[in-house]
Amino acid sequence: MSIKDYPKKMQLKDGREVTVRPLARDDFERLLGFFKGMPAEDRVFLAHDVTDPNVIRKWTEEINFDHVVPLVALDGDQIVGDGTLHIPPRGWMQHVGNLRLVTARSHRKTGLGTLIARELVGLAGSMDLEKLKAHVIADAQGAVRMFEAVGFEQVAVVPRLVRDQKGAERDLAIMINDVASLTRVLEDWIQDSMIPAFRSPGEG
Ligand SMILES: CC(C)(COP(=O)(O)OP(=O)(O)OC[C@H]1O[C@@H](n2cnc3c(N)ncnc32)[C@H](O)[C@@H]1OP(=O)(O)O)[C@@H](O)C(=O)NCCC(=O)NCCS
Repeated sequence: MSIKDYPKKMQLKDGREVTVRPLARDDFERLLGFFKGMPAEDRVFLAHDVTDPNVIRKWTEEINFDHVVPLVALDGDQIVGDGTLHIPPRGWMQHVGNLRLVTARSHRKTGLGTLIARELVGLAGSMDLEKLKAHVIADAQGAVRMFEAVGFEQVAVVPRLVRDQKGAERDLAIMINDVASLTRVLEDWIQDSMIPAFRSPGEG
């Protein structure tokens, strides 16, 4: 799987069609509109002030797939989902990527989040990343189910670590996806299901 595989047209559970592709330089207005149209309670768990045009300008002007792989989903000309794979710098976490994802309320529970997350996990599997990490509010059922659907497992809950927009403390769940072992399982499965004559030499 590669960034060159996009754009991809995909169908949601309710029949609507979206196009998934990497964020582009000319997405500034679209991405700002997406975040500004979002209820404040959805933005509170994002790491940046996404209503600040300077933040969005930086993201759209400084696209560097070696640091962040940003995918957007569009319904027509409107961004309805934004997911990012963050590639860590060198160091003890250099094999652990981070996933962040948000979808428009108008398109939730349609499989959109899962669809973007699956693309990002697939891209991570084709890089040198061995694990993926995601932080979610522990009782955000949609987020937890979405990440579980693409191979994440909840490994820890840190009580009362984060605050919502009303200042209330909320538990944070740490979710991990062991991409390397998932990739190995898939490769073994593909090899096992291949006709022997097509297997690489030396493979059982
Ligand atoms: C998390 C999020 C991206 C999920 O987006 P989505 O487009 O609804 O995702 P999906 O439609 O693929 O839903 C995934 C699963 O969760 C379920 N689900 C979604 N929202 C739900 C909710 N509020 N309550 C219960 N289940 C929910 C879906 O039905 C689906 O389950 P299924 O596969 O069994 O049908 C979206 O809720 C969101 O943007 N939340 C705010 C930001 C956030 O918390 N991001 C995660 C941390 S980075």
